[in-house]
Amino acid sequence: MSSSAVIDVAGLSKSFDGKRAVDDFAIRVERGQIFGFLGPNGSGKTTTIRMLCGLLTPDSGHGTCLGYDIIRESTQIKREVGYMTQRFSFYEDLSIRENLDFVARVYAVADRTRAVDAALDRLGLALAACLLHSPQLLLLDEPTAGVDPKARREFWDQIHTLSAAGITVLVSTHYMDEAERCHRLAYIAEGKLLISGTADEIIANSGLVTWSVTGPDLAGLAAELRREPALAMVVPFGNTLHVSGRYESQLDAALARFRQRPELSWRRTQPGLEDVFIRMMDSVRGDSHP
Ligand SMILES: Nc1ncnc2c1ncn2[C@@H]1O[C@H](COP(=O)(O)OP(=O)(O)OP(=O)(O)O)[C@@H](O)[C@H]1O
Ligand SMILES: [Mg+2]
Repeated sequence: MSSSAVIDVAGLSKSFDGKRAVDDFAIRVERGQIFGFLGPNGSGKTTTIRMLCGLLTPDSGHGTCLGYDIIRESTQIKREVGYMTQRFSFYEDLSIRENLDFVARVYAVADRTRAVDAALDRLGLALAACLLHSPQLLLLDEPTAGVDPKARREFWDQIHTLSAAGITVLVSTHYMDEAERCHRLAYIAEGKLLISGTADEIIANSGLVTWSVTGPDLAGLAAELRREPALAMVVPFGNTLHVSGRYESQLDAALARFRQRPELSWRRTQPGLEDVFIRMMDSVRGDSHP
């Protein structure tokens, strides 16, 4: 495969007990990119990441990761990627330094003490552990689940510093603010890649037309709006509701009588990533309006 990409795979599929967890998946990730991986619980993110890093053999498909064949050269891939597993945990009876020293031994890192010191200086424990052996690719599976906003901010600052130094990062997340911090995104549902691109491309290609509305009793209003078949989605965002549909004319017609209500203030807005992803999830589940 002629590829400058750090990850370049196609046709990846994997079933467990006859059920497709990943179905004909393809992505290409360039060097230094921060690539976000999104999708509902059980959509196949972890399974895909494990196939990319050589821990799980796909039933079918092909491609390369760090230039190595994902089927034939999985041993090299395992050795060279920095993989943070989803429920990342360390040995609680060891200190942070001892934990890192242990990881450094597993990867046979030369000059362990210096490597551990350098990693600790710069990073939190979890990220430090995947960076000890100086990988060129990080696969981070929900690294910030349950982490407070300040620590998440620091973590993402580090990710961007690493990216600027040419390290490629594939990171799965359920957080939309993190999705917006990625260079490119892929959204996967029920094992299928539904869309990939930059956040702007994904929003532009969604075809959603969105209004936001503020006013009293938004919960009551949401219930009323949800009965309108032309509205694909009604989603509360703090003190506003986002109301989206596929077709401008249908949406205008459906909203006309609501827009006459003096207590409501309507504003045409851009759909956000969250609007687009919720919409995708709904349509995959067959829960679909226009
Ligand atoms: N080792 C396994 N044995 C059997 N089924 C599995 C195994 N690993 C994953 N699955 C199933 O494959 C599907 C995809 O799971 P996966 O863990 O890849 O999803 P995910 O997108 O990472 O979800 P989450 O956001 O909850 O982490 C699920 O239906 C899951 O139950
Ligand atoms: Mg997972």
